[in-house]
Order: sequence, then structure tokens, then C-alpha cells
Amino acid sequence: MMHDRTPCLEITAEALDRDPYPTFRTLQSGSSVGWVADLGMWLVAGYRDVETILRNTDDFVTGTPDSLIFDTFGEHMLTAEGEQHERFKSRFRGAFSPARIRASMEERTDACSRRLIDGFVNDGKAEFRAAYASRLPVLSILSLFDIPLEEEAKLRLWYDGFERALSNFAWREDVRARAQGYVGAFHALIRHHIARVRAAPDDSLLSQVVNDLSDDRLDDAEICRNASIIFFGGISTVEAVVLNCLYALCTHPDALASVRRDPALIPQAIEETLRWLSPVQSATRHVVRDFTLGEANFRAGDIVNCMLGAANHDPRVFDEPAAFRLDRTNVRKHLGFALGPHFCLGSNLARLEAITAIRHILECCPDMRLSADHPAEIRGFEFRQPTALHLEWRV
Ligand code: HEM
Repeated sequence: MMHDRTPCLEITAEALDRDPYPTFRTLQSGSSVGWVADLGMWLVAGYRDVETILRNTDDFVTGTPDSLIFDTFGEHMLTAEGEQHERFKSRFRGAFSPARIRASMEERTDACSRRLIDGFVNDGKAEFRAAYASRLPVLSILSLFDIPLEEEAKLRLWYDGFERALSNFAWREDVRARAQGYVGAFHALIRHHIARVRAAPDDSLLSQVVNDLSDDRLDDAEICRNASIIFFGGISTVEAVVLNCLYALCTHPDALASVRRDPALIPQAIEETLRWLSPVQSATRHVVRDFTLGEANFRAGDIVNCMLGAANHDPRVFDEPAAFRLDRTNVRKHLGFALGPHFCLGSNLARLEAITAIRHILECCPDMRLSADHPAEIRGFEFRQPTALHLEWRV
């Protein structure tokens, strides 16, 4: 079938991975939508257009049965729409409210973060991705499900297998098979804890979902599948926001001095990070039926990448979008957690983890700075973060 794929962008996946922002600016000075032949996908870069698509779940859906996310995890809240999506998500929403997250997770996140920092603080230097940012979210998710923290290494292994499966665009059988094995092992672990809270209900997240008495309560297989996407959603994303915020502060000394002087500005620094260097750059949608958006004609079956990172730099919404500033009054309009029905379930936990992380690191690592010997390299166009972050401080 011939598709009208104009405007067409002569840009490679490699160039987008290195730095997508020049492409976003080009798109925003035109129709805001472009077809990238190298990826076989549309990019949507304007704030309003991204908003239009993410709110329209009749024409644009998150997963089809032949998408990688469905193949790996099956049906759950991020591959369902409409009533089924709401049925899945509503069971978990209460446990993720700001008050409930504070009550259930504040102390535990604090303890996990301090334990990690104690492991390297006296060295005066660390590579923060490996030593801290990749570990805190795994420990947090274990705490959230009341799973012993000793399971960290196993969960990390499974997570890495899931991540490979979700970028397995060549559909390699070995990658699929390994991920299926890890999904099975993850479900077995969750089933063990389902049995525990069924026998002895408590006030944990899992116990509420398991001991729900409503007519359309989730069965155990549905609980396991939704637990997998909650686990998957909460790891690299939190890792990236912590690293991106540290990078932003270290490259903006005035902002760093401000948050040091007044730690009450840390939440604002996190929100500006989510806007300025969005960890999740894109929300992918599959076109259900032909749809025209401005000059672009999407056809049923097309893949549309709603570029959250681009919308967050749309000059029609954010003044001087390339500047990292702590005084934006509209920073909360950022789309770092997307919007519409699939708005991030874990945003309040993510904020708690990120605020805790930055507060502890500023307290424990005085004079923190980027290492001159290991310059940070930011990569990624679907998920974006430093590949490694070497910091030094005085001890
Ligand atoms: C800074 C950290 C985070 C960022 C930037 C982030 C970003 C996002 C985005 C952009 C989406 C929408 C995806 C789409 O529409 O295609 C999303 C959905 C989701 N996130 Fe997060 N996330 C973060 C942390 C977390 C955490 C900590 C959890 C759980 C513990 C989590 C669980 C989920 C789930 C379950 C969904 C699917 C919601 C639905 O389909 O209704 N996320 N996240």
C-alpha cells in the first residue's frame, strides 16, 4: 500500500539517539509532524499535537497484539484501552496517591538511599549510575511489594531481560525466550506474595488488590501482568531522572548553588529536569484507523512517536525552552509523565525517590562536580540519560 509519508525527515536513528533536539526544533518551525524513514515511524513534536493524540484512545492505542510490549507482558494497563484499562488501573491508583506513597514509602526510600550512599561516600568519587541510580528504584519496587531486598540481583537480571525484549525489533527468538522465562519467574514470585497476603491481609499495595471484594476484581493472572508493568515502569525511568537532575545541576552552577542554599527548591529542580531532559522522551502509539493531523496523513497500522521531550521544549508553551531554569511558573505543564488515560501511575513514587536522592546526595557529597576525566555522554531518543555519570566531591 502506498502511504503519503510527507513531510519526510532525512534523519537517521543514530543522529536522533545522539541529539534529537535540533530535529525537534526543525519540526516545530514547520508542521510539527514528520515521517522518519530510517525508523519507519512518525515523530510528533508539537505540544498541542502530542496532547491531541494521547487523549484520543479511539484512534491511537498503546499496544497491539503484535507489539513487543504485548508479546513480552501480555495484556495489562499499558496495553489496554477504555473500560479494561480503567478496570486494571483503578485497582492500583489509591496505593499510588501522594498521601499513600508518603505513608508507605518515605521511610523505606530514605533508608535504601542512605544505605547505598554509605557504600561509596568516603571514596570522594563514584560512577552514579552503577553505584546508586540503577539500584535505588529496584530496592524501592521491592519495598513497594514487600519483597525482601535480598532479591535485588535477581530482579535486576529479570529487568535487564525485559528491557532487551522491548527493544528486540529483530524479534530474535533467544531474546524472546529468555524474557518469557523471566516473566514466568516474576509471576511465580508475585503469586507467592499473593498467597501470603491472601492468608494474612495487611495494608500493603498487593493486599488491597488481592483482597478486593468487588465483582470485577482482578484475578491472579491479571494481578501478575499488571505487577510486571508496574515493576518495569519504575526502574530505568527513576534511574534516568536522578542522573539527569544531577547532570543538570552540575552543568548549571547557579541552579546548584540555589538548591544547596534552599533545599525546598529540589522538587522544582526535579520538575524542570523532567521538562528539560525528559527521561522518557517518547510515548508510542499505534494508529487504529486513518487519521489526518495537519499536513500528515496517518494510516491504520502506522506507528506514531509522540515526542514528550519535544513537547517539553515547545516554545509556544515554555519560554526559552533550552534553558534549565528553576523559576518557571508553568513547569508543571511538562509532559514528562505523559497525559491522558495512560498518565504515569507511579509519578508520586518517582517524585519521592528523586527528591530523596537529590537531597541525600547534596547533603553527603559536598562540592559535588562532574569528573573532568570522564565527561558525561547523554544518549537515547526514546529514553534519554547519561550513559554513565562520574562525580567527585571532597571527603
Ligand atoms: C521519573 C520517573 C518516571 C517517568 C519519567 C515515567 C514516565 C511515564 C510515561 C511517559 C508514561 C506513559 C507511557 C505512555 O503513555 O505510553 C508512564 C506510564 C506508566 N508508568 Fe511511569 N514513569 C516514571 C516512573 C514510574 C514508576 C516509579 C512507576 C511504578 C512504580 C511507573 C509505572 C508506570 C505505569 C504502570 C504506567 C502505565 C500507566 C497506564 O497505562 O495507565 N512509572 N510513565
